[in-house]
Amino acid sequence: MVGQGIAVTFPDAETKLVGVVGHPISHTLSPAFWNAALRHDERNAVFLAFEVTPDDFADFVIGMRAAGAIGFNVTMPHKAHAFAACTHRSDEAEATGAVNVVVFEGDVIRGYNTDVYGVTQAVADLGPRPERALLIGAGGAGRAAALALARQDVELVIANRTLSRARELCDTIGGRSQVVGWAEIANAAETVDLIVHTTSVGLDGKATVLDDETLRRAGSGRLRAVLDVVYRPGETPLVHAARKAGLHAQDGLRMLVHQAAEAYRLFFGAEPPTEVMHEAAAQAAGRHA
Ligand code: ATR
Repeated sequence: MVGQGIAVTFPDAETKLVGVVGHPISHTLSPAFWNAALRHDERNAVFLAFEVTPDDFADFVIGMRAAGAIGFNVTMPHKAHAFAACTHRSDEAEATGAVNVVVFEGDVIRGYNTDVYGVTQAVADLGPRPERALLIGAGGAGRAAALALARQDVELVIANRTLSRARELCDTIGGRSQVVGWAEIANAAETVDLIVHTTSVGLDGKATVLDDETLRRAGSGRLRAVLDVVYRPGETPLVHAARKAGLHAQDGLRMLVHQAAEAYRLFFGAEPPTEVMHEAAAQAAGRHA
């Protein structure tokens, strides 16, 4: 399907640049599904991954603008630096203090946070809108998830290892949110329809904040689904435990593509070939779409 029957002659002198910047970046799947989308749409653009240290980030932004890049995606650990580098920021960027998409417009450097859209879509993939959700983690990803859920009027229970950060997030979000202690998450899981996990626990492929027995108990009540924003090759331990407990569960891969789909709209002002992106991401991750 991708590029089939088309005489693709680019890159050429007109080819535009987009990409992703991070540190480390070597394991990113973004170039695989972005370039699949660009080829599918016959866009004369190329997507590259840039390994850049925090010390070099400001120079990177200047260099990309000088090179005529359309813009770029931003991943760990640069989202706060990107926020500072932008001259204009979207409401979502302001509310989360993090920028994951930068778009150049002459002298204007626009910053967006499409992780909020990514979480919204990933939650929608898991079924009907939840009434009440347990949000685990209050870092950058936690803030994006809190905003996405609060905007859908979901009642939030927030837990974080460092209680003060959970309280801070709860105060920022306001509305119908409350904080529970780290030791309370198993009990809190029984009071919600959805769990959204945003901490780095599980990146090692072993640790999980909730085990399958706890999830089974919660699933015999109102708990229906688990979204783990962590992505790693293979299942995350939390997704594994949730599926074992008979719950709907997704890791961060679909969310990664959803946030990229919104970035595509910002870069090109056009609808992205989202299914092509999901399919290419799943293939690059060694999974079936
Ligand atoms: P990100 O932008 O990916 O969310 P971050 O802002 O550094 O990254 O936040 C990391 C999150 O993972 C935080 O919620 C952090 O909890 P603290 O606020 O207590 O640091 C959480 N986290 C990291 N390691 C953890 C661990 N071993 N156990 C529990 N939570 C952990």
